[in-house]
Amino acid sequence: DKGNYRHFMEKEIYEQPEVVSHTLAHYLDLANGVAKEFDTPFDFGKIDRLAISACGTAYLAGLIGKYWFERYARLPVDIDIASEFRYREMPLSKESGALFISQSGETADTLASLRYCRQEGLPIGAIVNVRESTIARESDGVFPTLAGPEIGVASTKAFTCQLSVLASLAVKAAAARGKIDKDQEKRLVRQLSEAPKLANQTLKLSDQIEKLARDLSHYKHVLYLGRDTNFPLAMEGALKLKEISYIHAEGYAAGELKHGPIALIDEQMPVIVIAPYDRIFDKTVSNMQEVAARGGKIILITDAKGAAHSTVDTLDTIVVPDVPEIVAPIVYSLPIQMLAYYTAVFMGTDVDQPRNLAKSVTVE
Ligand code: M6R
Repeated sequence: DKGNYRHFMEKEIYEQPEVVSHTLAHYLDLANGVAKEFDTPFDFGKIDRLAISACGTAYLAGLIGKYWFERYARLPVDIDIASEFRYREMPLSKESGALFISQSGETADTLASLRYCRQEGLPIGAIVNVRESTIARESDGVFPTLAGPEIGVASTKAFTCQLSVLASLAVKAAAARGKIDKDQEKRLVRQLSEAPKLANQTLKLSDQIEKLARDLSHYKHVLYLGRDTNFPLAMEGALKLKEISYIHAEGYAAGELKHGPIALIDEQMPVIVIAPYDRIFDKTVSNMQEVAARGGKIILITDAKGAAHSTVDTLDTIVVPDVPEIVAPIVYSLPIQMLAYYTAVFMGTDVDQPRNLAKSVTVE
């Protein structure tokens, strides 16, 4: 039931503060500021690597997870697109853990990758939304996302719940590996506990984003840029635009701009830049200057400090609340989802059932 919403996707975007909150509370003891004790198929304190594979949006969640596991827990992560992983015969050590991410728990390539790791004797964990799925059943341990049923083909709330699980696991791993002390753990857990409130505030930007989407719907090509965890998020923003509005979009690491894509920049291709005011904000500002110098139109998604410090003219600036670093990917997911959603609505596409796509991809 869509309730008062026009599409399931819209409803699912708006459900995010609640489902992210449920998911975080499953893994984190928010009152005491510690990661909870929960069943895990591998000991995060002992494994020497983590191999993650998944498809589509779930893969992009895994890519953000890599930044977190490596940054906070000093745990090296190999991340692959499952359709590549299953055939690329990578050497796997039994000291590693294998982690699969899937909303449906039925994606053929992800399942095949899981079975490959099973043969290789690795302990297997899965972040899944559908508990009674094949991937959940065939894993040694399941890390559930508590997103509830996701109906829209474009993944929204499953993605932010996957991020919530990955952030929680990264904190757990960081503590288990002695890479953070009690105070740092408390701080990270407290920061994560603010995600639902911050997501709620971000949803209030819908009027501005809807207006912007009307402009965006006139373009044929869009470039998304970001650094660090905003790089996978840029790819996620591009994927969302492609799949529901059919606008051709590419997501790039901002630093890659001058290695090729800059040749595409003109007035006909807006560049959406995801750049909170963080340690590398200035680097991204230089990239925006390169875009502006070539007549590119910039849409900047940032916070108040970023808006104040940015020295480039923008077509529009979306100012989201100030967020701690670990919460940023969850909160910044919302404007990119809304932008794709409203653009598709203006274009009159079938938002919940985009052409050529299936919710669950059970063939390779
Ligand atoms: O069910 P899964 O999470 O395994 O599905 C993976 C992808 O097919 C899925 O995320 C797809 O990319 C979405 N339609 C993106 O919005």
